[in-house]
Amino acid sequence: GGPIVTDQLWCSKPEIPADVPQPPSQCCPPMSASPPINFTFPDPTGPIRTRRPVHEVGPEYMAKYERVVALMKALPKSDPRSFHQQAQIHCAYCTGAHRQVGFSELPVQVHYSWFFFPFHRAYLYFFERIARKLLDDPEFTVPFWSWDIPEGMQIPSKFVNKSSPLYDAIRDPSHQPPKLVDLDFWQVEKNLTGEQQIQQNMWVMYKQIVSSASLPSLFHGQPYRAGDLPMPGAGTVEVAPHNTVHAWIGNGWYPNGEDMGAYYTAGRDPIFYPFHSNIDRIWEAWRDIRQAAKGNNRSQTDFTDHAWLDSSFLFYDEEARLVRVTVRDMLDIKKLGYRFSKVAMPWATARP
Ligand code: C2O
Repeated sequence: GGPIVTDQLWCSKPEIPADVPQPPSQCCPPMSASPPINFTFPDPTGPIRTRRPVHEVGPEYMAKYERVVALMKALPKSDPRSFHQQAQIHCAYCTGAHRQVGFSELPVQVHYSWFFFPFHRAYLYFFERIARKLLDDPEFTVPFWSWDIPEGMQIPSKFVNKSSPLYDAIRDPSHQPPKLVDLDFWQVEKNLTGEQQIQQNMWVMYKQIVSSASLPSLFHGQPYRAGDLPMPGAGTVEVAPHNTVHAWIGNGWYPNGEDMGAYYTAGRDPIFYPFHSNIDRIWEAWRDIRQAAKGNNRSQTDFTDHAWLDSSFLFYDEEARLVRVTVRDMLDIKKLGYRFSKVAMPWATARP
């Protein structure tokens, strides 16, 4: 099979198990009156913006992110740039609301496949463009929550302040700060000392990014092409720390661990975006580590299959225009106009 293509006309009610609270109607985006436009890169002479870690940006910068979420929440729910609709994008691409163009019986699911990293990069990229427009701040970037280093191993305080727009009531109350995140959380509390938890987290990172991810398919996930059934297999990082941290934040007493622990609600928690900003950074980190080990050969880190490169997803931009984005468009963050500020990666050498 070739690339997987989604289209607004091929979106319908998601497949959510009947024993789970159903979303209000469905999670397809509002219809665009005009067909999607193809993605084009920003002006190459424009600024390269830096995404920085939450624990370094300071309260004033975090107040900007609070404003972004407040402004998005203030937009009418029908506006594709509203917080509600931004969360719905995740619901639509992650519960099978979209159908493969040409295969109406086949739901599209970006998880547990080689689309995991590029889809979420694109999702966050458009979220960020909308944020800049609403803030009227051309420099704004979504800070990353660096849960992979000791300085970032708690939920950042802004997110647990009940009067902040970043607060979400549907989280596990026992995982509030100063509790340290468990990157290998499988619904069982380990009750380690702080030092032990940090060490464990380092080992998880080393294993998932360095020692067990020596091939693109191991890191990214398995090939998923037109005509295939969804979820062929996840990459290392998607399973842990990605899924494990989702589950650790969500409320385990809810049927599906809502909000962060369930695909259809994860995007409703404002921590989702800084969390995924760090996932996006880890993609870059893995690529740097692999390319350094393999003589800067891109085929060691990117698939060359056109079924990957030319698969496409739809997002609304800051002007509420529907844009078609391919995986190929998402492979060079410099061309997308951003970079990550360097933070230490103590796990890169944490061989157990
Ligand atoms: Cu689409 Cu972190 O999940």
